[in-house]
Amino acid sequence: MKQNKYDDSIFFEKYSNMERSKNGLEAAGEWHELKKMMPNFLNKRVLDLGCGFGWHCRYAAENGAKSAIGVDISQKMLSEARKKTSSEKIQYICMPIEEIDFPTDSFDVVISSLAFHYIQSFEDILSKISKCLINGGDFVFSVEHPIFTAQGPQDWHYDKQGNKLHWPVDRYYIESARNAVFLGEEILKYHKTLTTYLNGLIKSGFEITGIVEPKPAEDLLNTVPEMLDELRRPMMLLVSSRKK
Ligand SMILES: C[S@@+](CC[C@H](N)C(=O)[O-])C[C@H]1O[C@@H](n2cnc3c(N)ncnc32)[C@H](O)[C@@H]1O
Repeated sequence: MKQNKYDDSIFFEKYSNMERSKNGLEAAGEWHELKKMMPNFLNKRVLDLGCGFGWHCRYAAENGAKSAIGVDISQKMLSEARKKTSSEKIQYICMPIEEIDFPTDSFDVVISSLAFHYIQSFEDILSKISKCLINGGDFVFSVEHPIFTAQGPQDWHYDKQGNKLHWPVDRYYIESARNAVFLGEEILKYHKTLTTYLNGLIKSGFEITGIVEPKPAEDLLNTVPEMLDELRRPMMLLVSSRKK
């Protein structure tokens, strides 16, 4: 089942007020690591799956990409992306990631930031990416970490005083939909195991070139006390790979 939660007015409003939505990549907690995994964009044709406000498309264009296509299911997200974009190299297409069908060898680079945990089958999307990406092309993505998505609600367990006890990990091997809570709203996500992500790539003919479970940047750890909790479990998984 596909859900278009980002077109829900209340959720969209809350998402738009996040630091990363207002201030872009530099305000995204994982960007200091993801940036290092980005390929050389010079003269590349780039596809961004689940592009949201288009930050990564614009980053690719600013770094020399020949073209960038951002795909997203949400009209509201794309309307904001278009407002923020002046480059003619960038095009936004409103469609579910599950339905992309680009011709063979259309892209030199495929990226996706925090969208695949909304997609049921990683295997299906891999075969579509494999088709439209050239041999030797780069595929870099981030997802919510399987430890983060496993249990479902995505919250700590607390004691009676409200102190965080631990992050629950449960139903790890049950790959299915989860009714998660994000920004105080229910949202459908799909939990997948680490094996599904990494072996999926290997079986689909990708060479894994990097894996990062990002920790907050040093300056955040030193200045925002709550950030120390982010050292207790990984929230995201970043993977870079190359089609063989
Ligand atoms: C957490 S946001 C990330 C946006 C952007 N990639 C970024 O990192 O700033 C997730 C995005 O995935 C999109 N999305 C969720 N499910 C989708 C689907 N099935 N097909 C296409 N886009 C989807 C949402 O509309 C939203 O824009």
